[in-house]
Amino acid sequence: MVTTRTPLIAGNWKMNLDHLQSIAFVQKLAWSLKDAKHDYSTVEAVVFPPFTDLRSVQTLLDADKLHLGLGAQDLSAHDSGAHTGEISGAFLSKLDIRYVIVGHSERRTMHGETDAVVAAKVLAAHRNGLVPVLCVGETAADLEEHGPSAVPVAQLRAAVADLPADAEIVVAYEPVWAIGSGKAATAEQAEQVCAALREALADVLGSDSAAATRILYGGSVKSSNIASFMREPNVDGALVGGASLDVDEFASIVRFPSHVGV
Ligand code: PGA
Repeated sequence: MVTTRTPLIAGNWKMNLDHLQSIAFVQKLAWSLKDAKHDYSTVEAVVFPPFTDLRSVQTLLDADKLHLGLGAQDLSAHDSGAHTGEISGAFLSKLDIRYVIVGHSERRTMHGETDAVVAAKVLAAHRNGLVPVLCVGETAADLEEHGPSAVPVAQLRAAVADLPADAEIVVAYEPVWAIGSGKAATAEQAEQVCAALREALADVLGSDSAAATRILYGGSVKSSNIASFMREPNVDGALVGGASLDVDEFASIVRFPSHVGV
């Protein structure tokens, strides 16, 4: 099958860079990619700053007509009301934000987000015109006990069960043991799970949706290993944490076609 999925490189800043730092960072990143004549239609590049940075970055992208995409790191399952500290998808949408990370393993483990909460957030994103970047992945113990794809596939099925078949979604396979550890999965491991995730998508949302959906790999992605992942047929990009905080490193990851040889 010839793939028409545009690769997506997503930078998850986590709780790093305040709004002033974020402006300087995005300016540098945009210049660096411009200098390298990066074509955003061949590789989409999106940054996911903390909530307090979003308005500043959005204003900059808009004023300077930059082609970087903007995403948020989380959203509430609710659209408004008595939910102190939560952020509505409706507010994100008003900021022209296109993507929102849902179900990152740090939210699942440190904030007790269950599959049901993640599913409700996926629906909230869709309801508000945002594209959820749904994170799934197994721990080292899961891997030992259930093998490589059982847990991520079960998380995916639970999260998209009520999503309309034509809804746009991005899936990020992030093995928990690879996140921030410096020990990325091998390209073969990533491909095996991403292929299983695509099969599950075909089963739940239909084959058209499965063929169109971008499935990313995340977990210790760097400029030195991105090429190996991008050679795999079912890996359509990367969700990058630590390496997304270094302008040169992130720009190099975005420019993987120049070093992947495809
Ligand atoms: P990492 O994080 O690239 O630092 O491993 C990835 C993520 O948590 O999305």
